[in-house]
Amino acid sequence: MTPLVIDTDPGVDDAYAIALAARHAAADLRAVTAVFGNVDLATTTTNARRLLGMLGRGDVPLGVGAERPLIHPVTQRAADVHGDDGLGGVADRFGPLGPEPAGRALDVIADVLETAGEPVVLAAIGPLTDVALLLATRPDLAERIGRLVVMGGSIGIGGNVSAGAEFNVWSDPEAARRVLVEERVPTTLVPLDLTHVVTVDRAWLEALAASGPVGEALAATRTVYGRGEALGADRVPIHDAVALLEAIEPGTLATVPLEVEVDTSLGPCRGMVLADRRGRAPLGRTVDVALPEGTDVDGVRRSLFRCLAGVP
Ligand code: BDR
Ligand code: CA
Repeated sequence: MTPLVIDTDPGVDDAYAIALAARHAAADLRAVTAVFGNVDLATTTTNARRLLGMLGRGDVPLGVGAERPLIHPVTQRAADVHGDDGLGGVADRFGPLGPEPAGRALDVIADVLETAGEPVVLAAIGPLTDVALLLATRPDLAERIGRLVVMGGSIGIGGNVSAGAEFNVWSDPEAARRVLVEERVPTTLVPLDLTHVVTVDRAWLEALAASGPVGEALAATRTVYGRGEALGADRVPIHDAVALLEAIEPGTLATVPLEVEVDTSLGPCRGMVLADRRGRAPLGRTVDVALPEGTDVDGVRRSLFRCLAGVP
């Protein structure tokens, strides 16, 4: 079993990721923490409650995280992709509401790390603000994080929120730089380069919808999300779920160790993750970057389906 904490901004693909973690036989989900991001913090928190309630995981403590980035104000959310309610305009299909939050995200995560008898995997699938704050305020806990799995960045294919930046990193580049470059927790980065390849199509979503109430609610988000995130030919990415699969089943994705830097300037490259694939000049620090080359993309898609649909 993989002891797991998820920091998240639900978010349609976050909903897939949380469902995956709640249903995966090898995942020991110890806590979920909500951060601002796709929509505001109040909405991401409510959505996390909805998801835990729907998944019958009211036992999982929920923490409330940062409502804004470390330094600069939020200039753009992603309601165009995720809907105003963050769940594709069909948030009322997700419920009943799970329990009230147990406390602040940093306290909830600290509690898990302090009491776990083994290293915990932290999956960060929203802006990295909570993770940066945790590591800055409780550096003593860093060594208890066995691995940090981050959905974020775009190494070689351009961004989804600006020409070069991916949404999670762009939402708080200073926090992302802190976590990805300055801290030393072993990190796997799952960028758009991979998540734009592991997409799902209409047939996959229809089969998921037919699998039961959870699959039906997840697939119902496609009216809005499918429009906002479509990558042509009716294919949609479910970024965060891909990262969660790697967090639960390490080695599922092929990774390459790359030195990365994060641009925190206020210019057009703000929020870009730069990776030097030539391996010549030291840039920032080395993280494992998941890439399509060497990844069994169809296998990942099948695993996601089996788990989300509850196929034994
Ligand atoms: C990431 O940004 C968010 O919109 C998604 O939930 C995902 O975490 C993809 O760039
Ligand atoms: Ca997300």
